[in-house]
Amino acid sequence: MERLETFLEFNTNLFLYRNVYLGGNGKVEKIEIFSEKKIDEITLKIIENSFCIKLKCRFIEKKDWVELSRIKFKPLKIGRFFISSSFYAEGAPINKVLLVINSGLAFGTGHHFTTKCCLEMISYLYELGFVSRNSIDVGCGTGILSLAVAKLFRSRVFAVDNDQNALEVTRKNIEKNSVSNFVKVFKSEGFNGSSLNSTGRYNLILANILYKPIKRLLLDFYKNLEPNGYLILSGLNKKQSKDIRNICLFFNFRLVRQQSEDNWSGLLLRKV
Ligand SMILES: C[S@@+](CC[C@H](N)C(=O)[O-])C[C@H]1O[C@@H](n2cnc3c(N)ncnc32)[C@H](O)[C@@H]1O
Repeated sequence: MERLETFLEFNTNLFLYRNVYLGGNGKVEKIEIFSEKKIDEITLKIIENSFCIKLKCRFIEKKDWVELSRIKFKPLKIGRFFISSSFYAEGAPINKVLLVINSGLAFGTGHHFTTKCCLEMISYLYELGFVSRNSIDVGCGTGILSLAVAKLFRSRVFAVDNDQNALEVTRKNIEKNSVSNFVKVFKSEGFNGSSLNSTGRYNLILANILYKPIKRLLLDFYKNLEPNGYLILSGLNKKQSKDIRNICLFFNFRLVRQQSEDNWSGLLLRKV
């Protein structure tokens, strides 16, 4: 399943949106994958054989199924946050910070553990008394983590992604959540975006991206983080998180917390 997730992650041009259904035991029972293009028989067979799954395909009338999937997304409570599509947003409890997320073609509603554990770690930092002043969300997707930090700490956040769809979705979500004063959006591959040159060092860096980009960016995370600043990493399996922890020993990063579910793991590290 994890290999399939990675495959879908890298082929968002083909598979635009997915709904994941969990069984009573918390295991994935069914995944609905939406594609705008008709996928040929050979590709379907290759996917079935590679991931040992059975695919059932059906044609959906040309109506706005992205809009439909938005409405179907059920609200969630995670840590200090209540995450909802605009459809259910009115039911938000008053003791939670409301994040209105319309995911469109981007990743990040909180239903996947990799996002959920980042939101829990942000909540944990808040409870520790940490105050975010200047942060960056590398690989913002829908912008969910940027919104969470901006709304919880009322502080500046840079939301960056290398994918144009994600940037557009993030911009819309920033407007929906009325945090344009706090969140600035830039296209950037890691920290390479030219607009990032003058943003200074961060006291919180968030990166829910996959193992390879995380590993590649570790030195940049280190260089761009203030001493005593926090780094939240997600999108790693257990083995990869161990590998990243070991590399972090060479930098002055101390592991503060690790959260795992199924084979996913998220890390909270502090630069000492
Ligand atoms: C798994 S999604 C995470 C979205 C959201 N931050 C969350 O936690 O749900 C990863 C996002 O990172 C972006 N991404 C991957 N590698 C990147 C890189 N090197 N620089 C910038 N963005 C990157 C992808 O385009 C994607 O939108």
